[in-house]
Amino acid sequence: MDTHTTAATDGQPAVLPVDACDFTVFGGTGDLALRKLLPALYLRDRDGQLPDGFRVIGVSRATIDDDGYRSLVAGALREHVLPTDLDQHVVDRLLARLHYVTLDVEDVTAWHRLHDRLKDGAASEDVTRVFYLAVAPGLFGTICERLDQVGLATEHARVVLEKPLGTDLATARAVNEAVGRVFDESSIFRIDHYLGKESVQNLLVTRFANTFLEPLWNSRWVDHVQITVAESIGVGERGSYYDRSGALRDMVQNHLLQLLCLVAMEPPTYVDRETVRDEKLKVLQALRPMTPELVDRDTVAGQYGPGLCAGEPVRSYADEVGHPTSTETFVALRTEVQNWRWAGVPFYLRTGKRLPERVSEIVVVFKEPPHAMFPHSEGTTEANRLHIRVQPDEGMRLHMTAKEPGPGGIRLRPVSLDLSYATAFGARSPDAYERLLMDVVRGNTTLFMRRDEVEAAWTWVAPILDRWSQPSHTPRRYPAGTHGPVAAATLLERDGRSWQETE
Ligand code: BG6
Repeated sequence: MDTHTTAATDGQPAVLPVDACDFTVFGGTGDLALRKLLPALYLRDRDGQLPDGFRVIGVSRATIDDDGYRSLVAGALREHVLPTDLDQHVVDRLLARLHYVTLDVEDVTAWHRLHDRLKDGAASEDVTRVFYLAVAPGLFGTICERLDQVGLATEHARVVLEKPLGTDLATARAVNEAVGRVFDESSIFRIDHYLGKESVQNLLVTRFANTFLEPLWNSRWVDHVQITVAESIGVGERGSYYDRSGALRDMVQNHLLQLLCLVAMEPPTYVDRETVRDEKLKVLQALRPMTPELVDRDTVAGQYGPGLCAGEPVRSYADEVGHPTSTETFVALRTEVQNWRWAGVPFYLRTGKRLPERVSEIVVVFKEPPHAMFPHSEGTTEANRLHIRVQPDEGMRLHMTAKEPGPGGIRLRPVSLDLSYATAFGARSPDAYERLLMDVVRGNTTLFMRRDEVEAAWTWVAPILDRWSQPSHTPRRYPAGTHGPVAAATLLERDGRSWQETE
């Protein structure tokens, strides 16, 4: 038996048993379902976390039956689960849990099919119902409304929303309103898959389960913070989505701001209640508002041209999407968190596609010691830096200064203390979806974005979107395979700093 939680009347989570769960995936034959969701459920099943009464109901317009769906999923598991993790016995067990309903969600007369299929399971009052909307956000409102009309939006029902949650504040609000008319906020799970990454959760543990960092984690000792989420891939097949989105909406509004929140937030009272989300919201609300002048001064948009990636020639972004476009594939920006702890400390964020390598890292750069008591002629010193590697090779590295061994005076040399999670724990880091899907089943909303967080993030990026939508705005070109436009380096050089490239 597994457990789940629901919000009790006092606002604290109440634990209820989960013996039966109907996990319905709208967009069940789509890329997200086959590449991420089903493989994640397979791995949770393998580790014995799915109760016997766990069913997965794939829903889409494709006219296939249960067996057709099972063979589609079997193929996806072969493709997306490491061969060393595949166990035929578990594959068969998961396939036996699968059901399929052909449904065009716009067709009111067809919904009884889903209703009937869900009602043929365990007694409905005992079933936790998850409705995962892996479909275009334009359908979120319609699906929720229909779920309500056919009586499926019950007390134990949860709805999971995938980004993009709107394209700006107004559209995000519209999505939230439509979903909120049917589901209570405590039953709405807005996924930001970065929050499910092991290393991102570990950021909370590093900061709040240890004492030595917290006294230094403020403007008195921190010079600045850098957050980089770099990708080497281009937009590939996703051009039609991406070209309407761009890196600011696709990455900054959600993943990078969430990372910033975890770095900058105050210690929450508990980790499993609303307090984590409350503290993150305060950070978003404290971000220095962007004005048109600040957008021009403190943000850089870039777009990749042709270049070399891993030694191979690659096409420009415009070539990939098939037309000239002013969508940005790179963003660098400088902001500040205007509160007591962080006053005056710059936070530099950057993300882009077709950069030299896939690496996500948070670097906290500390101030120089207040008094230089070792003369510079005797070696080199660098400010202390804590590198938190989000992916790949999750871990942490603390750069410090040490005495180079040897007689006759003191020579200083930078050295590092390294922690590799793979070496320290010798265990596979689960995919973010494995954690997040089980949190949905258990009703734990901590690692999901609350409505006010999403809207605060859109509010903050709005002036940048506005400014960048002017006809005079064009992203700066950078050759694929490089670190982005020169202006991104200038953004820091102007402040006497530079990006910490990976070592
Ligand atoms: C997604 C974006 O949210 O995150 C993609 O839409 C991006 O454009 C992806 O490639 C990056 O995720 P990860 O987990 O590979 O860093």
